Amino acid sequence: MEPLHVGRPNIGNRERLLERINDILDRRWLTNNGPYVQELEQRISEFLGVKHCVAMCNGTVALEIAIRALGLHGEVIVPSFTFIATAHALQWQEITPVFCDVAPGMHHINPARVEELITPRTTGIIGVHVWGQACDIEALTDIARRRGLKLMFDAAHAFACSYKGRMIGNFGDAEVFSFHATKFFNTFEGGAVVTNDDQLADRLRFMRNFGFAGYDDVDYVGTNGKMTEICAAMGLTSLESLDEFIAINYRNYKAYERELADIPGLKLFHYDESEKRNYQYIIVEVDEAEAGVSRDQLVEFLHAHNVLARRYFYPGCHRMEPYRSYFPHAGLLLPETEKLTQRVMSLPTGTAVDEQTVHLVCDMIRHAYWRAEDD
Ligand SMILES: Cc1ncc(COP(=O)(O)O)c(C=O)c1O
Repeated sequence: MEPLHVGRPNIGNRERLLERINDILDRRWLTNNGPYVQELEQRISEFLGVKHCVAMCNGTVALEIAIRALGLHGEVIVPSFTFIATAHALQWQEITPVFCDVAPGMHHINPARVEELITPRTTGIIGVHVWGQACDIEALTDIARRRGLKLMFDAAHAFACSYKGRMIGNFGDAEVFSFHATKFFNTFEGGAVVTNDDQLADRLRFMRNFGFAGYDDVDYVGTNGKMTEICAAMGLTSLESLDEFIAINYRNYKAYERELADIPGLKLFHYDESEKRNYQYIIVEVDEAEAGVSRDQLVEFLHAHNVLARRYFYPGCHRMEPYRSYFPHAGLLLPETEKLTQRVMSLPTGTAVDEQTVHLVCDMIRHAYWRAEDD
């Protein structure tokens, strides 16, 4: 069997993409805020109902620029249960990420713990919409307002998702998407900061382009965060297939739900279907005591059979460098995260996976159980 990857890219209409690439070559406008980047920003703003979309070269740089444009410094509270880029985007600017635990039994930052971590050096909070499911935006917004803090969201997983009926992208001071190849909606590499704040949007645009305010005039410390035209062409093409991507992901999610229901000790991460979802992640928690097999044993077995299931977000940001050296005892304040990172794995889905394959993956999981019983 061909290796089955988690997050194999979703690809829209190939002919449309190639047409657009031909346009780019004919125009010889390859980057620097070209017409496709402008069109993509416009379409995304409309789709999300947000005033400004500033497209970037990737989600990490988008986070870095948003953090800087918002003037964050000192300490910023983030979950440890996230991809390392959330923490690194702060540390890169010598801002201390203060790791917060997830709520018990949940995968998202615990607002009750956030409040306890605020110090005089705290300037902001970054919530992460893990698996495209919003974190507790309402509670975090309330804390940020009361305590005079900036609030950002890492919405890398949450493109095309909603919270209380409103599209993600409209919350906090700014939200950041990743359009990396493994994401539901991809531009090869790419990302965006979206905001309803006009002044912030201006700053983001300057900072994305070295701080240039005119041909020879630089107003800010900037970087190169620009999206290329070819990436925007991929984005415009993918946007035309969003409904199809969601339908396939939803079909796979439902197939996993049926298949895994009778396997003891496995808990599928359930999406709240009353909200818009992209269903891009099939997340399973393994309870070793009940399953008789650990998450790591399962992942190892699946890998041996070419199903490249992934541990997530293992081992947690606080257990990676430089954070583990800076805060060697951080785990004591993160008991729920410590448990979760031992239990979570992600299974293959996306448009490269059909129902037959889901069945195959689940059969392999059953085999792993039988083998564990025999051992
Ligand atoms: C939660 C989260 N934040 C940030 C990123 C970084 O995005 P990018 O890979 O586009 O730099 C990712 C994904 O890669 C992510 O999953």
